[in-house]
Amino acid sequence: MAEQKTLSIVKPDAVGKSNIGKILARLEEGGLRIVQARLVYMDRPMAEKFYAEHAERPFFASLIEFMTSGPSMIMVLSGEDAIAHNRQLMGATDPAKADPGTIRADFAESIERNAVHGSDSPEAAEREIGFFFPAS
Ligand code: CMP
Repeated sequence: MAEQKTLSIVKPDAVGKSNIGKILARLEEGGLRIVQARLVYMDRPMAEKFYAEHAERPFFASLIEFMTSGPSMIMVLSGEDAIAHNRQLMGATDPAKADPGTIRADFAESIERNAVHGSDSPEAAEREIGFFFPAS
């Protein structure tokens, strides 16, 4: 597998609990490199645009409320097969279903307040990286 880039977000629940360092350590120790990073306090238009594909879902309003409730740590991760590798380190969206030892199993509160986001495809990674790091 070739070198890939993916977008990673440490979400407001994990930032609020001062878990940025512990989560970044998991990513780095898991073999991914942080090549760009910004702390972003998303406003409503920004969060709605980023999550536009979920606009029709019943949890959309609550998701936007949550993602605008505090700052997020936004990063570009690089590494071999980085998209799948990051998702493996994160664990399932619902922490109740996440494998033991994954980031969500250890740091997430619920399916919504689930500590981290990671791109789910090469197309999503390109869009999401361009969204937060337009110069890259
Ligand atoms: P994320 O990987 O950022 O992608 C979409 C987000 O929507 C997801 O993580 C969760 O934070 C949230 N989400 C997904 N499914 C549900 C659900 N069933 N109920 C509430 N929030 C959800």
